[in-house]
This record gives sequence, structure tokens and C-alpha cells, in this order.
Amino acid sequence: MKEKDKPIKIGVAGLGTVGVGVVKILAAHGDLLAARGGARLELVAVSARDRNRDRGVDLSALAWCDNPVDLAARDDVDVVVELIGGSDGPALALARETLKRGKSFVTANKALIAHHGKELATLAEEKGASLRFEAAVAGGIPIIKSLREGLAANAITGVHGILNGTCNYILTRMEREGLPFGEVLADAQRIGYAEADPSFDIDGIDTAHKTAILASLAFGTEPDMGNLAIEGIRTIAPVDIDYAAELGFRIKLLGVARQMEAGVETRVYPALVPLAAPLAQVMGGTNAVVVHADFVGRTVYEGAGAGEGPTASAVVADLVDVARGCGGPTFGIPAGSLKTAKAIPADAHEGTYYIRLRVEDRPGVMADITAALGREGVSIQSLLQRGQAAGGGVYVVLTTHKTNEAAIKATLKRFTGLDCVLESPTMLRIEEV
Ligand SMILES: NC(=O)c1ccc[n+]([C@@H]2O[C@H](COP(=O)([O-])OP(=O)(O)OC[C@H]3O[C@@H](n4cnc5c(N)ncnc54)[C@H](OP(=O)(O)O)[C@@H]3O)[C@@H](O)[C@H]2O)c1
Repeated sequence: MKEKDKPIKIGVAGLGTVGVGVVKILAAHGDLLAARGGARLELVAVSARDRNRDRGVDLSALAWCDNPVDLAARDDVDVVVELIGGSDGPALALARETLKRGKSFVTANKALIAHHGKELATLAEEKGASLRFEAAVAGGIPIIKSLREGLAANAITGVHGILNGTCNYILTRMEREGLPFGEVLADAQRIGYAEADPSFDIDGIDTAHKTAILASLAFGTEPDMGNLAIEGIRTIAPVDIDYAAELGFRIKLLGVARQMEAGVETRVYPALVPLAAPLAQVMGGTNAVVVHADFVGRTVYEGAGAGEGPTASAVVADLVDVARGCGGPTFGIPAGSLKTAKAIPADAHEGTYYIRLRVEDRPGVMADITAALGREGVSIQSLLQRGQAAGGGVYVVLTTHKTNEAAIKATLKRFTGLDCVLESPTMLRIEEV
């Protein structure tokens, strides 16, 4: 492709981890990006809170905006990159202002797209601008492009992802070091791997934002946080990690979006994944996504889900696409055609389950347990009983054959009512991905 004479002029809002990464790539790969995009990508203006902070990159030749929204109005800015974060506030104001002016908008902000994706996509399409957010899901992995473009020939049936590096890092260390959740979290915070307020990550909200976006691209539904059932990893105990391993599984926090008869199910939960499955091999801060589609079958994507280089790599790839003039609707189909996601009741979920019970160590207990399962029509696939449990009694661990969540919940209620059951049962879903 011949390089055009006119450069694409860029304004970047947010000069933290990702913003600085973008500045570095634009400086390091000017010629490469110009050759690939067909136009030079020229950074002209930036915005952050603290003008005087040394960010380790040379910003002296760039215009500075105290208010990031001012970037959109500048005549010398063609494309705005938003790397501030947050679903509302300056990020949303900047997105609206940029797109209203018919300028393209690139962001790494999953919260913004999960909450306002349809509105912003509608605006972008009305104004003939591009709205790009490759970095918003799974950092450096090009999963947005894969769903929107590479798999465009397919009807997608399911998307399963390990989408939060902090959670996967915590689960990995719990398994490798046999430590409880709280201890690993505290250490992860000490070394800067988890935020001081980790709830967005460990309670599954970050994964939910990303799942909402993936669901939208995969199934043509509008991003919808309202219908997403979310469970995090706070309740995962080392004993469940050990039993899962004994049964041939590993516990992972998954974002799940799948086509069911009644509609699209979107959920976040920790699940048992077979040890031989690709997602079970993903350790530490790495992210991965598995997509099932009708003609191509299963495809697997893995890589760094966060960090300066990988995230900035995805942002700059979006800028190259903008320079190339790659258009097409934001979510793969026109924003006006995105379907409203229907709420699928969690009880409709069909699958297999892991249940751990702490029970009295006496005759007759197994008969009570199997009777409770039988009354709800739930059949056992495997059953383990092991020596003394912490706190007294013994653990009974079982996995079920395929059933629905309503039956499992009813069974758990029956278990809780049994005299021999010493604490609330633990239930985890099994995902054969
Ligand atoms: N970090 C990652 O690995 C990663 C991965 C994927 C996606 N993302 C997404 O990328 C975005 C940026 O993340 P980050 O980690 O780079 O964040 P960060 O390090 O906290 O940086 C945020 C930047 O925004 C600036 N900022 C905050 N409020 C502002 C305001 N009102 N006006 C102007 N500037 C403002 C800050 O300015 P000061 O520096 O002056 O305080 C800072 O430069 C977020 O949406 C995040 O979810 C991050």
C-alpha cells in the first residue's frame, strides 16, 4: 500500500500504563505503521490529570489539554484515543463529543463499551466514524477482530474466556502453593498484581464487562450488563482446587456467552474445566478465549491480557485499521439491528455440576445424600469420600450427570436440611470446553 501524503493526527487522553505504551509504539514503529496503515500516525495532542508528571516519554512537542474532552474539538486531531477508564465521566463525555464530530474513537475501556456500546456504535454509524475497542477485551489478543471479521462466515454457538489476569493469577498460585484465597490476594496486592480495591476483578465485574462485549459481537445482541449473572472467586477454597484436580479438572473464572434455545446466556462464574482442555492450561496472568462456531468448529486464542505493551499493541492496531479506512459496523451488524438481550433465568442452565459436602462420619449418610439427589432427579457421575475434614466430619465430593440448575438448587436445599450435613454445600459448574 502506498503511504498517503496526509498523516492521521491523533489525540490521546490518559497517559497511564496504556497511554504511555501507545506513545512508545507510535514513536518506535512510525515507518512500519505508516507502511501498514497507508498513512503516518502522528501524535499531536495529549491529556491527563497531572501535566508535570515525568512519564518516561518525551511529550514536549505535543499540545496539552487539561480537559480531555477538548481533544475532540481540536482541528488538528482526526482520531481520539481514550485511555482514562470508567464507564461514565470524562471517558463517556469524550466518546460522545468525538463521535458527534464524526471523528473516529479508539478505546481500551471495557466498562464504557459494556455500558454504552449501543449508543456509541449508533452515533459512530450515523456520523460515518469508526468506534474501535480491540484492547477492551483480553488485552493483546485480537479477539474482537476475530469475532467481527475472521469468524464472520459462522454462526457462533459459544464463547468461553479467561478474561481477568488477576483472578487467573490468584487461582494459579492457590493451586501451586496450596494457599487460601485471602493470603494469595494479600500478596498479589503487596506486589502490585491486584488493586488496593480488588473487587472489580475478584468479584467478576471486569470479566462481566468483557463477556458482555464478546456476547454482543458473537450473537448480535446489544451489550447488556443487566442480564449478566456474576459470581467471583472469593469463595474458592484450596480443598476444592485439590478435589477438582483429583477428578481431572482445574478451576478457572470464566466469562461464558452461549446460544441457548431460549436466547443468549451470558454469565461469569468459577468453573471446573477438564485438565486436557485448552483453557485449563492457561496459567498466571494470561488470558484465553475459546470460540465454538458452526463451520469453523473450535478456535482458541491465548496471550497477554493486560500490561503496557500488549494493551497498547491492540490500541495501535485499531489506529492502523482507522488509517486504512477499515469500516463496517462496530459490533459486526448495524447498531440499529442489535437485538435486545433476553434474560435467560440461571435455573435454565443445563450442565454438569461439582458439589462438596462436609458431613458426619457415620453410617446412613450416603443413603441420605443419594436420596436427596434422587428426589430431584439428579444422577451421580462420580463420588469421592476422603478422611477427616477441617472442622470435623468428612468431605463427600460428587459430580453429576447433565441436569439443570433448578434441580441442582433444589438438591442443595435438601442437603442443607439434612442433619448429617455440617455446613453449606459448595457447588461449582463444570464446563467441558
Ligand atoms: N492497564 C492495563 O493493562 C489495561 C488492559 C486492558 C485495558 N485497560 C484499560 O485501559 C484504560 C487505561 O488503563 P490504564 O491502566 O492505563 O490506567 P491508568 O494507568 O490508571 O491511567 C489512567 C490515565 O488517565 C488519566 N486521567 C484520569 N482521570 C482523568 C481526567 N479526568 N482527565 C484527564 N486524564 C485523566 C490519568 O492521569 P494522571 O496520570 O495525570 O493521573 C492517567 O494518565 C482503562 O479503561 C483500562 O480498563 C488497561
